[in-house]
Amino acid sequence: MKLMMMKRTIVTIILALSFASANAASKTGLASSLIHEWESDVNRKICPSFRYPSHAPSLVTGEAVFKQNCSSCHTPAASYKEAFRKVTPEKQFEFVCGGKGDGVHSFAGKGNGKLSVDEMWDSLIYFRANVLGYYKEGSQELSDMNATFGGNCAVCHGTRGQGDGNLHKSLYPPPANFTMTERLYTRTDEKLFNELKYGIPWTAMPAWYNRYDFDKKIKFDDVMIWKLVRYVRQFSHVQEKDRLDVGREKLESYKKSVGGVK
Ligand code: HEC
Ligand code: HEC
Repeated sequence: MKLMMMKRTIVTIILALSFASANAASKTGLASSLIHEWESDVNRKICPSFRYPSHAPSLVTGEAVFKQNCSSCHTPAASYKEAFRKVTPEKQFEFVCGGKGDGVHSFAGKGNGKLSVDEMWDSLIYFRANVLGYYKEGSQELSDMNATFGGNCAVCHGTRGQGDGNLHKSLYPPPANFTMTERLYTRTDEKLFNELKYGIPWTAMPAWYNRYDFDKKIKFDDVMIWKLVRYVRQFSHVQEKDRLDVGREKLESYKKSVGGVK
């Protein structure tokens, strides 16, 4: 009897303690720090007109803008790769928009030689896609990666990369939505690589390094993890001329792929 009482007291104490610490946690922001925050690194003095693209950037429009405005100095060559992996898309956008005060890159504004915000995004993302080797629509690589992603990632991130896979309702923080440019453009490819390789602590995002997918005979080594980074990136741009809303565009192709199911 005495023992029971003691047990109950202990339980009460433990309960009280855990409430206390839950309280402390929310006061210190510990609970909210579980959400994987992203913060813009853009210097609004250099680029006052900065905004994220209104629709997913188009690689086709980007190619045309690039050829007209950038290719006199740049070839989108793989030799830039190491450097580009270390810079966020939005930091490069700031550069294209306002330059370093050198007058070379200050494409923001109106008139001759100036570009709209969306044109700057299109040309930049086209540049990045070619330098970093993002997958081309209709390529064998892309369909291989569709299968890899579908088999290993879609359960959380959804086939369309929108963070809406079957498990998403039970996870906190929720799986990342890769079509959210506000989030993905604050990440370098290197950061995505590390998150994939080592996982993200205190979240459901697993560490992929040295895992196997025996069905598809895949080993998740560094090469495969870089492929996944490139694959994840393709959710935030389109390869058609129109800058369609990624969600809508991907939904259409998804519907087609599953035979017209609503
Ligand atoms: C007159 C030549 C010239 C033109 C035109 C030009 N660039 Fe550049 N760009 C350069 C030079 C030179 C550098 C390297 C300078 C530096 O890093 O300071 C560079 C660097 C860059 C970088 C790398 C920034 C970084 O540090 O990550 C990006 C991205 C870029 N340019 C995008 C563009 C885009 C997009 C266009 C067209 C809309 C464009 N550039 C037009 C000369 C040019
Ligand atoms: C069990 C669920 C789960 C699976 C399976 C999973 N992820 Fe994640 N992933 C998450 C969660 C949850 C987050 C968000 C974590 C956060 O907000 O900090 C995340 C975050 C990420 C991020 C970081 C995004 C960012 O904004 O920095 C990348 C990249 C990523 N996942 C790619 C993948 C890929 C590729 C696969 C398959 C090889 C995969 N994930 C499989 C749950 C999962």
